[in-house]
Amino acid sequence: MTTHQTPKLLRVLAGERQDPVPVWMMRQAGRHLPEYLDLRARAKDFLDFCYSPAMAAEATLQPVERYDMDGAILFADILLVLDAMGLDVTFEKGVGPIVETVSADEALRRVPVETAAQRLAPVYDTVSRVRDRLAPSKALIGFCGAPWTVALYAIEGKGGTDKSTARIWAYQHAEALDRLLDDLIEVSAHYLARQAEAGADALMLFDSWAEGLPDTVFDRLITRPNARLIARIRELGVTVPVIAFPRGAGTSLPAFVQSVTVNGIGLDTAISPAYVNQVVPKTIAVQGHLDPLLLIAGGTAMEDRVREILAAYADRPHIFNLGHGIRPETPIAHVERVLEILREGAA
Ligand code: CP3
Repeated sequence: MTTHQTPKLLRVLAGERQDPVPVWMMRQAGRHLPEYLDLRARAKDFLDFCYSPAMAAEATLQPVERYDMDGAILFADILLVLDAMGLDVTFEKGVGPIVETVSADEALRRVPVETAAQRLAPVYDTVSRVRDRLAPSKALIGFCGAPWTVALYAIEGKGGTDKSTARIWAYQHAEALDRLLDDLIEVSAHYLARQAEAGADALMLFDSWAEGLPDTVFDRLITRPNARLIARIRELGVTVPVIAFPRGAGTSLPAFVQSVTVNGIGLDTAISPAYVNQVVPKTIAVQGHLDPLLLIAGGTAMEDRVREILAAYADRPHIFNLGHGIRPETPIAHVERVLEILREGAA
């Protein structure tokens, strides 16, 4: 049950339509904001930034304060889980993350689940600091990477690859991959449960690299691991709403929403609103899906698409967002223009 004090974003996740629609943007805390770059310059490195609760809380709040977003996304990274599990993770400026790779004959879990979950304690501290400072009308979204997307970094060692090494593993080393996914599900479940305990109002699972998989493999690597991770957090007593983001699901989306019990579904840039309305039951909130490149281009192309998305979902619970993360080169004025359109006609 929601009350009049419940943040709009949570009401939508509970299945209620809200107008104007609540909004937040993936990767909203980051390099397109000058205040973020100032903060970033004071951190030793990106991991240290993520593990410094005072700074991470500040970065989480910056976009909410600047734009009056309805949701705050926890400032952390999906790769912290691998760091906590004992793999060497570094973020190189201008390159991105570099991860120590695992081999097929080695189990990933190098430390007990409890130890890994405890190593992430600074993140729970960030969550409680943000929740203390955030207005009651705003929702704090905790998150983790979904199992396949995180496993992919442990196999490939970096992002931006064609993912063929990990996809060949799925066929050639099926058992090793299943073990890797199992380990990630267990550690991620404890990580999310601790975020919820610390005050996260909703949780999101980022499956950023779900694209391009054959349907049968999609079921094994995306649908089932997401379903199992959510079932596991429920077993651990987590009651907050969950948003899944199987990016690039395409025609596997109907099977995904049938099998994975979610309150919200994150949509990518490629999927069409008409298809979404056909295959996603209206009891599930849709979250999406403006192309982040339109947010760079701006102008009428951007404005028309914002209005199209709003119109397409006008009669169902909708959270406005991007189809993927905001880019560093995004002009602040374009973000502001989108927010203005979303709030047009509001009292
Ligand atoms: O606003 C927010 O969403 C902040 C919290 C956040 C970050 N990463 C901070 C970050 C979140 C939710 C993520 C998720 C994440 N991280 C994903 C899933 C979402 C997506 O974009 O697909 C993935 C795949 C990663 C892995 C990752 N982290 C990559 C590939 C990179 C390098 C590319 C890039 O965007 O810089 C990162 C680094 C990273 N994570 C930065 C930030 C703010 C940039 C680091 C810096 O300031 O130098």
